[in-house]
Amino acid sequence: MAFEYKDTPGDTEWFVHDRFGMFIHWGVYAAAGRHEWVRMYEKMTDEQYQKYFDHFDPDLYDPTQWAKLAKQAGMKYFVITSKHHDGCCLWDTQLTDWKVTNTPAGRDLLAPMVEAFRNEGLKVGFYHSLLDWHHPDYPATSRHPQGDDEEFIKAAQSRDGSKYVEYLHGCVRELMTNFGKIDIMWFDGGEHPAEVWRSEELIAMIRELQPGIVINDRAQVPQDITTPEQVQPAEPFRDEDGKLLVWEACQTFSGSWGYYRDQLDWKTPEMIVRMLIDGVSKGGNMLFNVGPTGRGEIEPRAVERLQAVGEWMRLHGRSIYGCGPSEFTPPADGRFTQNAAGDRLYLHMFSWPFKHIYCPGLGERVTYAQLLNDGSEIQIVPPERVSRRLPEGDKETLVLEIPVQKPPVAVPVIEMFLG
Ligand code: GLC
Repeated sequence: MAFEYKDTPGDTEWFVHDRFGMFIHWGVYAAAGRHEWVRMYEKMTDEQYQKYFDHFDPDLYDPTQWAKLAKQAGMKYFVITSKHHDGCCLWDTQLTDWKVTNTPAGRDLLAPMVEAFRNEGLKVGFYHSLLDWHHPDYPATSRHPQGDDEEFIKAAQSRDGSKYVEYLHGCVRELMTNFGKIDIMWFDGGEHPAEVWRSEELIAMIRELQPGIVINDRAQVPQDITTPEQVQPAEPFRDEDGKLLVWEACQTFSGSWGYYRDQLDWKTPEMIVRMLIDGVSKGGNMLFNVGPTGRGEIEPRAVERLQAVGEWMRLHGRSIYGCGPSEFTPPADGRFTQNAAGDRLYLHMFSWPFKHIYCPGLGERVTYAQLLNDGSEIQIVPPERVSRRLPEGDKETLVLEIPVQKPPVAVPVIEMFLG
């Protein structure tokens, strides 16, 4: 094995192989169209927020289209918000009336999504918010929309947090019981310590109902994966013995997770491809987010970008799936990934120099090199021809001669066969 991960309680083998997933933030906040935190940012009360619940009508919802788009983009799993901070459940739970079945949607939206993605061969994950702005027993904290309202705080003193935790456990039990095999449980909003959530007990229940499931670290107990948010770590995460830790960066198109009509600062497909590559070169996955609209569609801005990412993935999936960090140091503006067997090395070029690429430490290690997008040879310059340009006798450095024109793909990849 070219790279080795530290063991975790769940099964992360498929996870570190698959590398790329779709995050979906969808709930009644899509009707506001200005961030899933709209209720908090605008300090809305329950009454003021009610209008989104009353007008959430996803008449165009077709989860098969979503699943096909994710698959076409090269994504292998998805994580959907079963409940976000606003507390509104996306499935027909028996534990509250604050669920989409009571909005104009009038039906369970989660079950058909799970089925559609599974049918396309993607693995299934649930994002579930511990934080809850709607539940009558959730305490008034600074992260509550009325958390700075004296009267609300006073009235909230009689709230019984333990009842909320019971409710939370009950919801998670339903999610782990009613939807078949679930591959990922992704908690968020863990503003209290693990003892408050009774996280150990919650996790034990999940593991009993869904053996092998991958669980993230946001219920305040380290489990299988750690989840940097809207950042790219500088280097791989490792334990004291140097073993890699499993991680997944979650990223957005424009900063918001929920549908945000007027946010225009969207990343290009090339930036998204680079983030994915950068993550894999450091041993991480990328969970890339879409925020479908109130009518239940993934908007054109997202579709066209994901299709472009998918076109890159179609040609370059080999340098992403099953790959991880390499022991070799990449040349300037490059990122290396390596397959698990360690006999293929992939050089991703974020710029396209003229006309040679110098790879220290790889001299005489590479038997053949080609561009991945079209399988055309990249010639290795023999040491005697480069001696004029390199310090005498530097056999340690591999020199590749690349075409003047950058190949017509977002990020060109040179596949190297190691001898
Ligand atoms: C944050 C936000 C949230 C989003 C999540 C995704 O913690 O509270 O809205 O769901 O990150 O990682």
